[in-house]
Amino acid sequence: MTPYAPTIAPSLLSADFTRLASEVAAVEQAGVSVLHLDVMDGHFVPNITFGPPLVASLRPVSKMVFDTHLMVTDPLKYAEPFAKAGSDWISFHLEAPCDPSAVIDRIVACGAKPGMVVNPDTPVSGLRPYLSRLHHVLVMSVFPGFGGQKFIGGVCAKFAELRDMGFEGRLEIDGGINVETAAEAARAGADLLVAGNSVYGAKDRTKAVRDILASAASAAVASGG
Ligand code: DX5
Ligand code: ZN
Repeated sequence: MTPYAPTIAPSLLSADFTRLASEVAAVEQAGVSVLHLDVMDGHFVPNITFGPPLVASLRPVSKMVFDTHLMVTDPLKYAEPFAKAGSDWISFHLEAPCDPSAVIDRIVACGAKPGMVVNPDTPVSGLRPYLSRLHHVLVMSVFPGFGGQKFIGGVCAKFAELRDMGFEGRLEIDGGINVETAAEAARAGADLLVAGNSVYGAKDRTKAVRDILASAASAAVASGG
């Protein structure tokens, strides 16, 4: 169902912010190749996280792909600062009051790969005009704003819908991913699994990464992906 092997993207939101460099290194040493960075502006969502300076500080200490998830009202304004800071992939919400084409253009012009995000209650049909230009689509399995929420399984049907619409890029899921829900999402076609609490909340991050990936990989194989 998906041409991509399942990949885990730990979310730095759940890391210990008193020692970010070693938190980044902990997952990179576990074999992780994509780090998920949750950017919240206190307006699009009720929480505030971090901005481009933090991404720029971490860039020299990691070779991982920085997968930046913009939960902001004005992605057109922030795409370039985050790309310049070292974000490789930049996604923004369909629900943001912006011109998605202009934001995609800006992300591409900055040399980053564009993605779009839909909240659990937003249908994927609104993404149709943009799909051919997107590197990834992120399907939220919680309402954005906070880590540690419960997985909303019903959103998984969106992956088959996106493939039916002809989308050939990466299918990402974000929110409440653990060993069990990773399997459910991978079976439905997700190949990029964001995991915050289940990785950074675990005593043994390496084991958490391996267990989640193994669970997703066997589910994807079982579903013919
Ligand atoms: C939610 C964020 C998620 C979140 C994931 O707004 O976009 O990336 O941090 O954390 P867990 O895996 O703990 O749900
Ligand atoms: Zn996220």
